Amino acid sequence: MILQIVAIVLSYLLGSISFSLLYGKLKGIDIRQHGSGNAGATNTLRVLGKGPAILVLLLDVIKGIIAVLIGHWLGGESSWLAGLCGIAAIAGHNWPIYFHFRGGKGIATAIGVLTSLAFFPALYAGIIAILSIIITRYVSLGSLIFVILTPWILLVLGYEWSFFWTALVICLFAIWRHRSNIVKLARGNENKLGSKGGDRL
Ligand code: G3P
Repeated sequence: MILQIVAIVLSYLLGSISFSLLYGKLKGIDIRQHGSGNAGATNTLRVLGKGPAILVLLLDVIKGIIAVLIGHWLGGESSWLAGLCGIAAIAGHNWPIYFHFRGGKGIATAIGVLTSLAFFPALYAGIIAILSIIITRYVSLGSLIFVILTPWILLVLGYEWSFFWTALVICLFAIWRHRSNIVKLARGNENKLGSKGGDRL
């Protein structure tokens, strides 16, 4: 039991390392004061450009992968612990202990977590999400499509229940964090990929 708790806490602390905020600090800015106000790769692209955005995206994905590895390492075959560690890393990303609990929306970290847990379901959802971003240029819509589709693909493909519940919690976190994006999508004034604007959260 102690080992499991250690794994979850470690994953949360790892998830709390927000790379967009760290990169912003290096450049002397708080990314949360610019663009959409979100501490994530999309807003890094908007505010700091392509190179930093790709770096932030990769590092935020990698911390999700590492959290799942921590779960497997300390939990053995139990896919429950790997899932809980993934959720903890996303919670850390969204509500980081090192940055006054004001972080991102958890999608890059969710990509790392879900692809590590169940590669093909995440890949199928990811392909549809990327196509939707290419067509609409709304990253938030693609993000939501990714997290909403994944649990149902897992269910249809007969994965263990632990995967489904993990993906469902990740989906609910993401919907909660994207609530302002959802309002803007409904109103038709969401930021498109490549646009500079955005209101702070
Ligand atoms: O992953 C975040 C993305 O879905 C939306 O980011 O900055 O446009 O709110 P942003």
